[in-house]
Amino acid sequence: MIIKSICCIGAGYVGGPTMSVIAHENPHIKVTVVDVNSDRIASWNSDDLTKLPIFEPGLDVIVHKARGRNLFFSTDIDQAIDEAEMIFISVNTPTKTYGAGKGMAADLQYIELCARQIAKVSTSDKIVVEKSTLPVKTAEAIKDILDNTGNGIHFEILSNPEFLAEGTAVQDLIDPDRVLIGGAETKSGQEAIDVLAKIYASWVPEHKIIKTNLWSSELSKLTANAFLAQRVSSINALTELCEATGANITEVANAIGSDSRIGPKFLNASVGFGGSCFQKDILNLVYICKSLGFHQAADYWEQVILINNHQRTRFANQIVKALYGTVADKKIAFFGWAFKKNTNDTRESAAIYIADKLMDEQAHIQVYDPKVTALQMQSDLNHLNSRSETKNSKYLTTHTDPYAAAVGAHALIIITEWDEFKTYDWQKIYNTMSKPAFIFDGRNLLNRSAIESIGFTYTGVGQ
Ligand code: UDX
Ligand code: ADP
Repeated sequence: MIIKSICCIGAGYVGGPTMSVIAHENPHIKVTVVDVNSDRIASWNSDDLTKLPIFEPGLDVIVHKARGRNLFFSTDIDQAIDEAEMIFISVNTPTKTYGAGKGMAADLQYIELCARQIAKVSTSDKIVVEKSTLPVKTAEAIKDILDNTGNGIHFEILSNPEFLAEGTAVQDLIDPDRVLIGGAETKSGQEAIDVLAKIYASWVPEHKIIKTNLWSSELSKLTANAFLAQRVSSINALTELCEATGANITEVANAIGSDSRIGPKFLNASVGFGGSCFQKDILNLVYICKSLGFHQAADYWEQVILINNHQRTRFANQIVKALYGTVADKKIAFFGWAFKKNTNDTRESAAIYIADKLMDEQAHIQVYDPKVTALQMQSDLNHLNSRSETKNSKYLTTHTDPYAAAVGAHALIIITEWDEFKTYDWQKIYNTMSKPAFIFDGRNLLNRSAIESIGFTYTGVGQ
């Protein structure tokens, strides 16, 4: 079977870039990305490529080449489903905020809605591909819905988790470490795996395409994220100790990372990890372990989250303590709001939690981020806390110029490791701040001695 038409449900951080690259590398396949959010689709179709709903380095070039040729963004979900031979499900699967498994399990309502819609409108056989990160055995639920509510046609379910990291999505998609495809251990399951593998083989070397059963594929995605997050929590769990003893976490990370069995990546101590995946996937893993009665394993993985929460709280407390025990009515500048550099995504960013804590102490927060909008920052805070929206806006000021964000501030916090921060005129920033001027570098981004020689009081993470 050769696929001529693909539909992807969900035009978000995963669906948008992934389908853009698949379309770019397979000009003979028509790829239609659909979404219920018409504003998002309109932004994907915008002539002005700076208006794409997602900021990812290099994405504009790929979209520009493929869009209108074989890449389409649309709100006509039914039509796109019906005409496709292969359907990717790339909708959001947030942590449940209600009912059983609240705060831990994945909320699968959007996935189920997709399955029901596919079943309703399909009139020909389809391969349905799970792209969103899902709890193990979700494929079984999707298959059940499709087989029992569909029009009697054949659905083959595949799991093809996405491993791209935001900020490097295009690069990760073009040159992935691996592509993972899981399918049923039946003849039709294996055939479907091969059909999808062929699409990737247009640009990915075949030895990088790993084929497994469905459950191994689903579980691998959860555990890959758990392992990565565990590394960040492991290094962060040493920062307090370094601060108390005079060891330097950067030196420690460098020393341990040079052991080839450990490796140098993902050992940057920070104010805590964020993003849409790490916390959600670990909570999911913990929930699955608990549901199966594996309490020790659940506690083990949960500790990764607890250390992350502790790291954020500890950082906020350090600021209050250094500012003589009170930040009430003081101005605190935030450089960065996104959960990492090179993205406009703010989901689970440490910035939100730290700002919230400081606003509880009645500090005025003045934020600059190169890519995050003021509206997004406001909405992040409104979602997190019970403070009124008016109170949130009273304590939050946003700036489009970093130098303006620092004026009058008692302290400046680096939350996101944007490269441009390293190039600023820090003397100029110092001159406009209240004295003594503090810097809390949540990413260990700046050169300590250069910053201290200007006159700043500098605090890094774990040094
Ligand atoms: C992650 C996985 O890397 C990716 O494979 C998966 O598909 C989705 O989840 P993402 O969340 O986009 O990707 O970003 P990632 O680069 O993994 O960073 C996650 C968080 O950890 C960020 O807040 C980052 O700043 C933080 N981090 C990362 C550290 O604090 N220190 C590090 O050394 C590395
Ligand atoms: P991710 O990071 O997993 O890509 P996003 O939230 O960025 O998550 O994107 C998910 C997208 O899926 C959103 O744009 C949302 O509007 C869309 N979506 C959710 N449910 C449906 C649905 N039933 N049909 C179409 N689109 C949907």
